[in-house]
Amino acid sequence: MNVLILGAGGREHTLAWKLKQSPKLNQLYVAPGNAGTSEIAINLAVGVNDFQKIKDCVISEGINMLIVGPEDPLVNGIHDFFLNDQEIAHIPVIGPEKAAATLEGSKEFAKKFMKRHAIPTAGYQSFTSDNLEEGFTFLESLPPPYVLKADGLAAGKGVLILNDLEVAKKELQAMLIDSKFGNASATVVIEEFLSGIELSCFVLTDGEHYKVLPMAKDYKRIGEGDTGLNTGGMGAVSPVPFTDEEFIEKIHSRIVQPTVTGLKKDGLPYKGFIFIGLIKVGEEPYVIEYNVRLGDPETEVVIPRIENDLLEVFKAVADVRLNEIDLMIDKRAATTVMSVSGGYPEAYEKGKVISGLEDIQDTVVFHAGTRIDDGQVVTNGGRVLAVTAYGTDFSKALSLSYKDLKKISFDGMYYRKDIGFDL
Ligand code: AMP
Ligand code: GLY
Repeated sequence: MNVLILGAGGREHTLAWKLKQSPKLNQLYVAPGNAGTSEIAINLAVGVNDFQKIKDCVISEGINMLIVGPEDPLVNGIHDFFLNDQEIAHIPVIGPEKAAATLEGSKEFAKKFMKRHAIPTAGYQSFTSDNLEEGFTFLESLPPPYVLKADGLAAGKGVLILNDLEVAKKELQAMLIDSKFGNASATVVIEEFLSGIELSCFVLTDGEHYKVLPMAKDYKRIGEGDTGLNTGGMGAVSPVPFTDEEFIEKIHSRIVQPTVTGLKKDGLPYKGFIFIGLIKVGEEPYVIEYNVRLGDPETEVVIPRIENDLLEVFKAVADVRLNEIDLMIDKRAATTVMSVSGGYPEAYEKGKVISGLEDIQDTVVFHAGTRIDDGQVVTNGGRVLAVTAYGTDFSKALSLSYKDLKKISFDGMYYRKDIGFDL
């Protein structure tokens, strides 16, 4: 089979690395890809939202399957674009149709979905500029901290958690009246604050059946001890030590199962990954958010633990026979540590030469933001490289990730030295 992966990050490099191991794979393409994917696949200089160009490539390269990494093209309806075009309608797309992708595209939609299907989540109300005053009254009725969420996609920046009531009111006004996050904050969801520890649960579904992938935990803050600004993710571990069998069973029965049946009941076609952002409050799981894709850098620790031929698994998703697949999981722990550009998540420079990649021995380096410039691998994003290792437990894996990270260098390189500190 010829396969095209859309995206350019560590998630997509990991998927490419895994698919490359499949005997059923013929040619692998990544659009637009990075320096890492260019070593194992053919990079196509096509943007993830350029549907027409993607179609042209699918036809000219004889591609048999499309795997969508990021949420943007899904929320924009790439799956529907394929289904509605006779020339490419037969090409399976891994990733939900637009209606189902709204689970990530609209927080209000996701909250209503959870309410309808009795899936545990924080209490909430939503507001627009028409009922700002009611929003103020709702805030007054809540204890701090206040959780304000722009309804739409806001590049991961649309959630504010504020301790002060007056500040929360000002921010609500800025979001609704002054379009702080553009159109994304025309509706704002205000939620009850949940206190607990977060984890990521990935589910792969064909719309009828599903498989729950190993749990993972990511580290979102830039600074050690989970301090400072939020990032896309600075590291991850899998499995998650604080999830015992009983807790995982609660996740399956109260959250995963009703989510998949809810999608079906609501007529929301779903073939792809569901990323359920969870929080453990006491011993109970609650949903913080849905994403319609895999998480990054969680992918860099979850996918390497899957022992199956991933292409065979995706084919089963396409054919709605995921029930025939017996998912096999590597018992070892996997960890990844992300190296980032100096200044990230604020302004940073690109184009720094990366050295030491040839000395890597005990880990797999997934490229997150790199490109080839004049034959050299250079930085091309905030998050640059994810260094993944296996170990009999997460601390052994982490020491390997760190050992190999020390061999890598580029101007301004930073990474957190405390991934897993809280486990
Ligand atoms: P989201 O984009 O919905 O995942 O929110 C971003 C982050 O805000 C989450 O990863 C949590 O750390 C935090 N968060 C969101 N909603 C809540 C909530 N109801 N209670 C506590 N923290 C939250
Ligand atoms: N690591 C969190 C995310 O991918 O959204």
